[in-house]
Order: sequence, then C-alpha cells, then structure tokens
Amino acid sequence: MMFLGIVYFLVAFGTAVPTTQRDAKVSYDGYKVYKVAAHGDAADLISELDALSIIDLSHSHAGSENGATFNIAVPPDNVAAFEALNLSAEILSGDLGADIAAEGSFGEYSSTLRANSGDLPSLTWFDSYHAYEDHIQYWADLQAAFPDNSELIEAGTSFEGRPLQGIHLWGSSGKDSKPAIFFNGNVHAREWITSKVVEYITYQLIVGYENDTLVQSVLDSYDFYILPVVNPDGFVYTQTTDRLWRKNRQIRTNTTAIGTDINRNWAVGFGGGGSSSDPSSGTFSGYAPGDAPETAGLIVLAQELAGRHGIKLYVDWHSYAQVILLSYGYTCDAFPANLEAQLALAAGAAAAIAGPYNTTFDYGPGCVVLYQSSGNGRDYMTDAAGAEYGWGIELRDTRYGFVLPPEQILPSGEEIWEGMRYIWANL
Ligand SMILES: *[C@@H]1O[C@H](CO)[C@@H](O)[C@H](O)[C@H]1NC(C)=O
Ligand SMILES: *[C@@H]1O[C@H](CO)[C@@H](O)[C@H](O)[C@H]1NC(C)=O
Ligand SMILES: *[C@@H]1O[C@H](CO)[C@@H](O)[C@H](O)[C@H]1NC(C)=O
Ligand SMILES: *[C@@H]1O[C@H](CO)[C@@H](O)[C@H](O)[C@H]1NC(C)=O
Ligand SMILES: [Zn+2]
Repeated sequence: MMFLGIVYFLVAFGTAVPTTQRDAKVSYDGYKVYKVAAHGDAADLISELDALSIIDLSHSHAGSENGATFNIAVPPDNVAAFEALNLSAEILSGDLGADIAAEGSFGEYSSTLRANSGDLPSLTWFDSYHAYEDHIQYWADLQAAFPDNSELIEAGTSFEGRPLQGIHLWGSSGKDSKPAIFFNGNVHAREWITSKVVEYITYQLIVGYENDTLVQSVLDSYDFYILPVVNPDGFVYTQTTDRLWRKNRQIRTNTTAIGTDINRNWAVGFGGGGSSSDPSSGTFSGYAPGDAPETAGLIVLAQELAGRHGIKLYVDWHSYAQVILLSYGYTCDAFPANLEAQLALAAGAAAAIAGPYNTTFDYGPGCVVLYQSSGNGRDYMTDAAGAEYGWGIELRDTRYGFVLPPEQILPSGEEIWEGMRYIWANL
C-alpha cells in the first residue's frame, strides 16, 4: 500500500546535517524547498535523494488529500541534479536561507517594552519570535499578572541542565483541586510556532478569567499545567546554530551522534515503527523509554497529575501539518475506547479553528491521518497516564513549514484559541 511505502521511505532518510563544524552556524542559503509526490519505487528515490544530501522536512508532514507527498530541502549545489530527476515536485521556497533570515530577527523584550510589574505584557509579544531567555521572562510576567491563580513550575531538567519551566493556573477552588489540562510545546526544537501558540492560549486564559464566563468555567473546573518549551536545549540550539534541529542535545557514551527524539522516547509502543534505534536518525528513540532527561521529567509530572485528580486533556503541540492527532500513533489497528467522543470533540475544534481564517485542520488517530510514530507522548498519556484525551496538535502551515513567518504567529494563536474555546465548552 502506498501509504506504508511512504512511512518507510521517510524513516529511511538519514539526518543530512549540512555542516562540518558543530558550532558554526548552519547556513541554508540557496537551499530550495520542494514538495514531492512519491510515485514509483521508494527504494530508488531514497538512494537518489540521499546522494543529493537533501534535508528531510517531513517528519511532521507526510500525507495530503491528493496522495502522499513529502517536503525536502535541496542544497544549492544539487538543485540541478535534483531537477534532472524529473520528480513530480512543486517549489515551496526558492531560498530557505532567505526565509530563515526573514523570520529570525527576534523581537525585543526589554524592560522598556515589558508591562509594569503585575500587568499583562502587550500582545506585541506575538509580532515576532524571541530568544529563549525572553520566553522565560515572559512566563514570569504572565504569572505575575495572575498572582492569586498561578505559579511557576518546573518538570525536571534538560540534558544540558536547563529546568523545564512552565505555569500552573487554577480557578476558584484553589490549586491542585481539579483534573489536569496539560499542554507542552516545542518538544521538537525547530517547531517555533508551538511555544508561541501555547503562550497565546495562556495569555487568553489569564485575560478571560476577568470577565469571560467560558474561561472562568474552564479554569474553575481544571488545573492547567502549561510548559511552552520542553526541549530547551534543542530550542536554544535552533537559535544559535541550526534552525532546523529537531531532537534534544543529548550526548551518549557510545556514539558521536547527538540528540534523542523526545517524542519517540516514551514507554507506550517504544521502539516500534516510525521511530529509529539509530542515534543519527531524526527519530532516534533513545535506548530505553524515558532515558532522555526531558522525557523523564515530563513522566514524573504526568504521573503526579494522574495520581492527583487525573488528566482530562493532554496536548503535545507540534508543527507543521494542520491536523489534530488523537491516539494512537504507534498502531493503526487499535483505538482508544472513547474514540467516538474524541472524534466529535476534534471535529468541533477543527471547525472552530477554521472560523477566523478558514485554515483547514484535519483530525483523527495519528497513525491513520498522519503517519505511524511509536513511543510518542500522547499515546503514553492515553495508556500510561489515564488521559481522557491524549492529543497532539500539528499547527500551521503547509507551505513555509517550520520557518513560519512571524506575521502568522498571531493569526495562528487566534484560530487555535477558537478551537480551544470549543473544547472548553464541550469537555
Ligand atoms: C526529464 O524531462 C525532460 C523533458 O521533460 C527530458 O528531456 C529529460 O530526458 C528527462 N530526464 C529524465 C532523467 O527522465
Ligand atoms: C471583557 O472586558 C473587556 C474590557 O475590559 C472587553 O473588551 C471584553 O470584550 C470583555 N469580554 C467579555 C467576554 O465580556
Ligand atoms: C550503546 O549503548 C546502548 C545501551 O547503553 C546499547 O543498547 C547499544 O547497543 C549501544 N550501541 C552500540 C553501537 O554499541
Ligand atoms: C475555505 O477553505 C476551503 C477548503 O480549503 C475552500 O474550499 C473554501 O473556498 C474556503 N473559503 C473561503 C471563503 O476562502
Ligand atoms: Zn514535532
């Protein structure tokens, strides 16, 4: 079946790292991005594309309604050779380096631009991307603007020693009194839009608690645990060195390859299809479940929440594909017992997301609507932490991919907030 062929095809790509020096900033100047339709013999394509040192941009984007497609970046020296292959391919970007340059001027978040202590920061935060240190300050500022109903939290420590930070929000019954809604962003380092959207949701929850009855009701009914960046080492690395880095920055004793895919490192389905035991792969699972420190920290938090009042909803935020992923990812042959209720909630959320900008989100069990991915966080939350809704949401877009222009940050937040409002009203 074509679909399976594509899955193996994607997994088989090596990580083409276009640099010889680890610390030099990786340049993507002149790289062309193509959307390729996978016809014919996948094995031939693999060897042909590997020989061209292409970058696989498709771990999060393998399907489309018109048949399977995948996105790749081709180094400038190999563009002519790639075009000579005569694949059925559409150019998405003529210069990935230029896209990154356009995206990469971080906004200021200095004391002059921040709100007065205790006031909410301005929405200009969502006009651009920001340095990691500014995100940390932003979370502290959000918390300070909601002092009686929130606290800063940490869930363990990254490989390089950064705490996994976040905010815990609660309503009228006081903290830790209700089932959990648990969100984490930027598991994958290069998916910058995810931390921004998670921050936007947090901002709207805090604003809405003043006078929006729907928000008051959801915050009075659930404890929110929100961690916008759970792969801080990888995130920093995308800002200093390689914009397209995906994994954490974990060093292992018996390999020179760096990084574990945190979203393949969980116990449920560990080591199955759509994950790799090869440390140089972009989907390297690690050697054992939870052997990435970031996963280990999140497991402790998940089990705490499961043991306290249970997890109502978990969302692991990703980009890009525009799809709401339900469990399972590790198998296409089994489904959560409450699948019908999950599909109904996801359908309503997708329809609400389309409201502001007509952005189309698909939805369904991850293995069925996107591709197989074993050892992922949402399957763990569903099977090992009792989450009623264990989800992943793949945000915009379908053209720029990971390098989403800053003009799309706010619209992306706005449409997702509409989807969240549907969920708040129907949980
Ligand atoms: C690609 O297509 C062009 C014309 O469309 C043709 O001249 C060329 O021989 C083809 N190359 C291959 C490798 O099929
Ligand atoms: C809450 O109050 C602000 C002004 O203080 C207003 O702009 C907003 O529309 C109100 N929201 C609701 C849901 O009433
Ligand atoms: C590296 O170590 C892990 C366990 O620590 C082991 O499972 C794996 O096989 C080792 N790989 C090699 C190439 O020795
Ligand atoms: C909204 O999107 C759908 C699906 O992509 C498209 O068919 C429709 O024409 C769009 N509507 C508007 C008003 O743009
Ligand atoms: Zn991802």
